[in-house]
Amino acid sequence: MNIGILISGRGSNLEAILKAKNAGKIKSNIRVVLSNNPNAQGLKIAKNYGIKTFYIDPNSFESRESFDQKLIEILQNHSIDLVVLAGYMRILSDRFIEEFEGKLINIHPSLLPAFQGLKPQKRALEYGAKYSGCTVHFVTKELDSGPIIIQAVVPILPDDTEETLSKKILKYEHRIYPQVIKWIEDGRIKQNGRKVIVKNARYGTLPTNPALEDF
Ligand code: GRF
Repeated sequence: MNIGILISGRGSNLEAILKAKNAGKIKSNIRVVLSNNPNAQGLKIAKNYGIKTFYIDPNSFESRESFDQKLIEILQNHSIDLVVLAGYMRILSDRFIEEFEGKLINIHPSLLPAFQGLKPQKRALEYGAKYSGCTVHFVTKELDSGPIIIQAVVPILPDDTEETLSKKILKYEHRIYPQVIKWIEDGRIKQNGRKVIVKNARYGTLPTNPALEDF
């Protein structure tokens, strides 16, 4: 499988995936990393791992559609079969989502459908929620609303701050995202409408459901 990763910033999820690849835990080729931000730290990380990177400047395109068309072109030129959003902070056009539907995944730092959109960790805290976590899901046209593949839960403690909560959640992000890629490359993910089942996975577990596997 050929993977393309879209980023806008820090790139810690990208790095977790690259580490999993280097450790032989996932087999796919990480062919390209695309960023809409020239200063994304993730671009440096990708280069350090020898991955081809592209910065595409949104200001040099007339519309979201033409910008996304450029992304599609690059991804297709690299025969990408799975597009991984890893902190990609731009809304994708319907056209892009249609092109890669079923082959496009995202990670979000909340227990969806709670706290969709921006700053979910801060909003979970302010809301007084007692649990939060992270979710990997297929991307559909409605923001942060696609079929859920896996979630990890973390408790929110009285003295948690946005920073401490984000850190706890991030630790699980770095584990569940490579796991999902592994499941996809092994052909274990079956989707029936909104319901996603990972074949032969262990369900009913905490803190992630389904359970992470040794791989
Ligand atoms: C992560 O919290 C991810 O869940 C969200 O954006 C953040 C990206 O962080 N979509 P990083 O760039 O992977 O470090």
